[in-house]
Amino acid sequence: MDVTQALSLLGGISPQVFMKRYWQKKPLLVRQAVPDFKPLLDRAQLFELAANEDAQTRMVIQEPGSKPGWRFKHGPFQRRALPPLKQPGWSILVQGVDLHHERVHDLMNQFRFVPDARLDDLMISYATDGGGVGPHYDSYDVFLLQAHGKRRWRIGRQKDLSLQPDVPLKILANFEPEVEYVLEPGDLLYLPPRYAHDGIAEGECMTYSIGFRIPNRAELARELLQRLAEDAEEAVGVSLYRDPNQPAVAQPAEIPARMLEFAQDALQDALQDSRALARGLGEYLTEPKPNVWFDARVAAAKDAQTLKALGVRLDRRTRMMFDAHHVFINGESFSASGRDAAFMRVLANERALSARDVCSLSAQALPLVTAWWVNGWLQVLE
Ligand code: SIN
Ligand code: CO
Repeated sequence: MDVTQALSLLGGISPQVFMKRYWQKKPLLVRQAVPDFKPLLDRAQLFELAANEDAQTRMVIQEPGSKPGWRFKHGPFQRRALPPLKQPGWSILVQGVDLHHERVHDLMNQFRFVPDARLDDLMISYATDGGGVGPHYDSYDVFLLQAHGKRRWRIGRQKDLSLQPDVPLKILANFEPEVEYVLEPGDLLYLPPRYAHDGIAEGECMTYSIGFRIPNRAELARELLQRLAEDAEEAVGVSLYRDPNQPAVAQPAEIPARMLEFAQDALQDALQDSRALARGLGEYLTEPKPNVWFDARVAAAKDAQTLKALGVRLDRRTRMMFDAHHVFINGESFSASGRDAAFMRVLANERALSARDVCSLSAQALPLVTAWWVNGWLQVLE
């Protein structure tokens, strides 16, 4: 992607300018970001997905009254478990639709001017008139694309982030909106993390949310330490503690200070292996989501020939990234250098590799790519 080229998706500014001026800083409203946008799934298709075990679906029902009450349920939901369409004020939210629908995945990919390591999923919400999830803030960035009907968004730079007590959802106790916009199909609203917002459906409404993952320090530290632990033997060696200068002790229960130093030294060695750290990070970031399954194939002798003739593309569920020394795919890491690394990077960036490029892979790389295809991680290029 040429990040300097103006996009109608971003209201005529380039991804470069968007990232500099708006990303994690301030909201951006783009009217007709996707002109003539039509929902990629109709209501029946979305409800079908909401009944699927592998999709993560939530339902929010507003109970009418002077002080509205909220009910919240986790799916899956069979069609008959949904309230009647004529009943106002309810909503279902289906997470990760990009994993199930190719065109939804393609739409999400229009936002790949943000690194894949940050892009999370595309959620679709369906609401009847007046439906919404209440005023709240999210801890991640979001692009809200109106897909069907209208939604009134009220937003604000809320300072007071205290939440209403005793409700099953995170709802701001003292929401103070500053502006409001009514979004129509094709309109897009970007909100940075912690920006307060409340979207209320005006008639039947579908909204697509392109969401991002924001790893936190504790989560990353835990994940990386676990992975480093698996490689500890190789990284720090198995040399044994020695204490020829240990004096005789009157307090035998006290841990020797030297033992702590020995442990610190071992840990430091493990942490100093920057390649192992980078490997752990890439494996963690490309780990498929827990509800993802690939359809493995039966390997055949002619597989490599097929891929050479047709080229490959990543399955929409596949996560592939790279760093200076490795390529990562679906939680696995491979050292890569030279021409093969260049081709692997094309595959990761473009999510496809032409037949010509597959033909140019080395004798080590081609069997690897073929194995990925057998795993169901790749498809042939149509
Ligand atoms: C919705 O689509 O109803 C909610 C999306 C959000 O507020 O993040
Ligand atoms: Co939100």
